[in-house]
Amino acid sequence: MQTIRRVADLRTEIAAWRDAGERVALVPTMGALHAGHMALVAEAKRLAKRVVVSIFVNPKQFGPNEDLDKYPRREAADARMLGDAGVDLLWMPTVEEMYPAGFATNVSVAGVSEGLDGAARPGHFDGVATVVSKLFNQVRPDFALFGEKDFQQLAVIRRMVADLDMGLEIVGVPTQRDDDGLALSSRNAYLAPEDRAAAVALPRALGAAARAIGEGGDATAALAQAREALSAAGFAIDYVALVDAETLGEPDPARPMRLLAAARIGGTRLIDNVAVVVNGQG
Ligand code: PAF
Repeated sequence: MQTIRRVADLRTEIAAWRDAGERVALVPTMGALHAGHMALVAEAKRLAKRVVVSIFVNPKQFGPNEDLDKYPRREAADARMLGDAGVDLLWMPTVEEMYPAGFATNVSVAGVSEGLDGAARPGHFDGVATVVSKLFNQVRPDFALFGEKDFQQLAVIRRMVADLDMGLEIVGVPTQRDDDGLALSSRNAYLAPEDRAAAVALPRALGAAARAIGEGGDATAALAQAREALSAAGFAIDYVALVDAETLGEPDPARPMRLLAAARIGGTRLIDNVAVVVNGQG
C-alpha cells in the first residue's frame, strides 16, 4: 500500500488505474481505525478493484468547544491495518494541502442537515459536506462507503450527491457493534471503564423503543421510556428522535423510519441509531 499526501500525486496514481479500466472505491475516515472502518474496507474491496482510504481529521467539522485537538491520531497503526487488509492507497493530506491559503468555499445541504446533530453541532455538516465534496473531486471514485452509525451524515451525503449530480454510488454499511451492543466508534476510546459499562444503555434503550414502536406501541411513550433509561444510566441526552429514514423529517408509519439518539456520558458524546421494523420492513 502506498501513502500519498499531495493531490497531484494522488491524481497521477488514480489516472493510471482509470486508464486500465479499473473501478475505484473510497472509504473516507478520520483515522483511529476500528472494526467498523474495516467492515467498510471489506465492502469496498468487494465492489471495486481499487480501494482508497482517506485519513484526514477535518478541522471544519469540529465546533470551537469540540475535541479536534484530542481526537485520537494513530497514523502508523492505521496504516498497518489498512496494508494488512489489502488497501491500495492511503490518502493522507495535510490540513494545508486540503485547505490551502485563501480557501473560501462552503458546501451546505439544507433540510436533512438542520435538525438532530445539525442543531446540536452548528456548522458540523457543512464541514462534512465540504470535505467529502473535496475528497470526491480528488479521488473521483465509483463508490464511496460510509457507516450507518453516522446516519444523519449518510443522509446528508446522499442528498448532496443527488443534488449535485456527483455521479458516484454511496454505499451505507450497517453499524458494527461490540459484543454487548455498543456501536464501535473512535470516540469510545475516551470512555472511562465505568462509563463504558454504562454506555450499553444506549443501544439497549434504542432497541427496546424501536421494538415497541414496530409492534404498534405508542411512539411518544416509547421515546419517553428510552429517555428515562438513558438518564438512569447517567447519560445527559441531546436528543432521542423518531424520524423518516430518508428525509430525517416527520416519521410516516407507511415509510421506513429510524430512531436516532445522541447523549453524553462522562464528557463523551455518543450517537447511535436503529431501524424501526414495522410488519417485517424497516
Ligand atoms: O465519518 C467520518 O469519519 C467523517 O465525518 C468523514 C466522513 C471522514 C468526513 O470527515
